[in-house]
Amino acid sequence: LPDTATIDGGRLAIGGVDVLDLCAEVGTPAFVYDEAHLRARCREAVAAWGEGATYASKAFWCRAMARLVAEEGLGVDVSTGGELHVALAGGVPPDRLVLHGNNKSEAELDAALRVGVGRIVVDSFDELDRLERLVPRTAGGPRPAVWLRVTPGVEAHTHEYVRTGQEDSKFGFGLASGAAAAAVDRVRSPRSPVELVGLHVHIGSQIFALASFARALEVLAAFAVPLDLPELGVGGGLGVGYVDGEPTPSMTEWAATVRAAVRAAGWPEGVRIAAEPGRAVVAAAAVTCYRVGTIKQLPGIRTYVSVDGGMSDNPRPVLYGSGYETFLPRAADAPRPRRVTVVGKHCESGDVIVRDGQLPGDVAVGDVLATPVTGAYGHSMASTYNKVPRPPVVFVAGGDARTVVRRETFDDLLALDA
Ligand code: LLP
Repeated sequence: LPDTATIDGGRLAIGGVDVLDLCAEVGTPAFVYDEAHLRARCREAVAAWGEGATYASKAFWCRAMARLVAEEGLGVDVSTGGELHVALAGGVPPDRLVLHGNNKSEAELDAALRVGVGRIVVDSFDELDRLERLVPRTAGGPRPAVWLRVTPGVEAHTHEYVRTGQEDSKFGFGLASGAAAAAVDRVRSPRSPVELVGLHVHIGSQIFALASFARALEVLAAFAVPLDLPELGVGGGLGVGYVDGEPTPSMTEWAATVRAAVRAAGWPEGVRIAAEPGRAVVAAAAVTCYRVGTIKQLPGIRTYVSVDGGMSDNPRPVLYGSGYETFLPRAADAPRPRRVTVVGKHCESGDVIVRDGQLPGDVAVGDVLATPVTGAYGHSMASTYNKVPRPPVVFVAGGDARTVVRRETFDDLLALDA
């Protein structure tokens, strides 16, 4: 549960706001974020990584989150023009932005150069071609600072869709193939319009084995250390526990492992390390609240509990087979003996939210049901499949709730139709 969650007489409150009252007011489904929890994780990131603390906006992004992250002093990883746009709208200082992406368009690069993003993470030779066209060759002026993204050829132990460090990857310059060396040569040539200040590696997401991060840095070191670059981007990917008993390594442990690996591999003492946690900042900050609409019992087989959202607000179970827990905010500390499958309202059988859920025996139609640890890659990957309007995002703190992204309406669903 989020940091400020309390249970009083069975009823769940977050940020001092009773969750059932909130649902009565804003409706369901809704993403409810504990603002204090978000801030606490941001502060942990800053404590662990200092100036290098950078939030990966893809995990959860809207103007309110951009403001919060800017207030907490983190940099921001944006990987598209859209994420960049929201960052600027939320007041993130451009020089605190890091632009990622394996296929940045000319328009995206142009926008980044115009606003003056802090770092562009160059991902391909084609991107270098584009930068050469875009960056004016005014002699003497400061050149945009870039990192090169390198794929170290390390396989992280995580789902194949979110694994990125292996040689066979759409991202970055491979070490083994010699692409990374060729890219360094090109960027360091006197004619280069950009200035190489660091390398970047991101080996994947939802990684629990901290040794995977250390291994990637060890592999990278033989290539990187002789280049003597002042900066090093170690990516994101710190794992988060979604179900009971799954461990969640802390930001501090992650940073300690990375620093030890960097030291052991011979990087100079002063190298500035930047890390980009996304999930670890936001995942556990939110619960999604739904309302139960139907309960179908198949004796000896299973019980389906249908809610008013589904794969459109949380595609992770369908995409990655991700597991979640569920509970009733009216009886948040009650025993949960009843085995259920929580499903959404979409027109396909794969539309499962919680495969092996446990709920109190008296779960009934009309109950509010919550799924914790849904703050990362839920809202950000939400769709309007079946023309189900996307849920609102509500921040709760100090006894107050504020809707920071309103619920989509049926008119919104038609707003783009010509
Ligand atoms: N930096 C880079 C370059 C990335 O590509 C990513 C995530 C991150 C940082 C942040 O990773 P995190 O700390 O959040 O693990 N949709 C998937 C996750 C995809 C991650 C993509 N890149 C999911 O729901 O599990």
